[in-house]
Amino acid sequence: MPQPVVADRRARRARKTGQARLLPRPSALAERLERAHGLDPVVRRLSDTVVRALPAGARTDALHGVPFGQPAHPALVRLPLGCWTSAVLLDLFGGGDRASRVLIAAGVVSTVPAMATGLADWSALHRDQQRVGLAHATCQASAATLFLGSLAARAGGLRGYGRALSMSGLAVATVGSYLGGHLALRLGAGASHAEPVGHLSGPGWHDLCHLGDLPDGHLVRRQLGYLSLLVYRQGRDVAVLSDRCSHLGGPLHQGRIVVERGIACVSCPWHGSTFVIADGSVVHGPATARQPSFGTRVTPGGRVELRPRP
Ligand code: FES
Repeated sequence: MPQPVVADRRARRARKTGQARLLPRPSALAERLERAHGLDPVVRRLSDTVVRALPAGARTDALHGVPFGQPAHPALVRLPLGCWTSAVLLDLFGGGDRASRVLIAAGVVSTVPAMATGLADWSALHRDQQRVGLAHATCQASAATLFLGSLAARAGGLRGYGRALSMSGLAVATVGSYLGGHLALRLGAGASHAEPVGHLSGPGWHDLCHLGDLPDGHLVRRQLGYLSLLVYRQGRDVAVLSDRCSHLGGPLHQGRIVVERGIACVSCPWHGSTFVIADGSVVHGPATARQPSFGTRVTPGGRVELRPRP
């Protein structure tokens, strides 16, 4: 491992020779995309179109991955990438052209569900995430087009040209995958943004407040140590969820109570994710992760106590 002084000297030398400027890290390029406001008109138009095309409901929930408990897009993108990588490897190491064509075609077809799920998730992201997401989608669409071109070239007997197009497609898809990784791992798209309540609150029952301090039938925010809580009282029943929405951290106490299938739920003010108020189960996306919830009890003295549910 380089010592700090040596590393510092190297950095100074790199700055002097302009090396740092010539070789920007890929993450620096992705960060520039986050701030590329020039993309906003396209992002806005496309996002509005997707939101109009995908109204809230079972179909949109399925695209987000609500029935699976996690976003569907990351699982589906493996299909085209796996097929295309395999096709290029067959081309490189003397596999049959027919097998390559089957893999390329399977990859192109599987981009359809991958794109549908990706667009659904993308339409409910913050603007900086959407800018990176737009570049990611453009790369993957370009890769699919190059692979389609490869299929056409092979069908026309231009096998060498077809191989070159496949390799270009895989290179573009790899850049797109990098941006997808930046979006998911650096910007947290698709990850649960709910707080780790089990670690922050500690085990056992905790005193929250007096029952009379909670307004009846209203969503309110209360603090338990580091944790922000959404509290909803109905008579002597008190429901408590983590206040930070698992989708992108929206403040649930600013949402509203809705009734879904006869059950009281809270709807997030940012993108409308809907959770059962009693236990945090997801009713509607874009959130796919259950909202952390707490068991509650009222002591004979009227104090409300709570503890995180496992
Ligand atoms: S932050 Fe997006 S639905 Fe709550």
